[in-house]
Amino acid sequence: MPKILIINGPNLNLLGRREPEIYGIETLEDINQQLKMLAAEISLSLEFFQSNSEGELIDYLQKFGFDADGIIINPGALTHYSLALRDAIADISTETIEVHLSNIHGREDFRQKSVIAPVCVGQVSGFGAYGYAMAISYFAGQEQE
Ligand code: DQA
Repeated sequence: MPKILIINGPNLNLLGRREPEIYGIETLEDINQQLKMLAAEISLSLEFFQSNSEGELIDYLQKFGFDADGIIINPGALTHYSLALRDAIADISTETIEVHLSNIHGREDFRQKSVIAPVCVGQVSGFGAYGYAMAISYFAGQEQE
């Protein structure tokens, strides 16, 4: 079964409690459970990882990224400045999709730039948790080609 990594960066472990007016009331665990159900329906296997540490995210990508069939990552604030995370994604040939719960293009100036997006297939931003499902659908479609 094709394997997709779902990676979440800093502060996304606080979903549900963190600025709910922006990020919603679902916890990361709620979201991951829904994604698991979706993946089971379309015969994809998901591996979940969250860390508040840039280095741990890079170590995880280096360890598991090469053998995955797709990577979905919400890098949190690292999106806007982490060249190390960008390089880690660029160094892995596995297709990667950047996801944001909020629409980063409609928020503060510093959030409107992503250093990660140029090394991804694309970016999904502003659709809440549904953004992860959209990215999963992309990989499901790739598998059928
Ligand atoms: C976020 C947007 C980032 O700017 C922010 O730092 C986050 C969450 C989102 O999912 O909307 O932590 O990635």
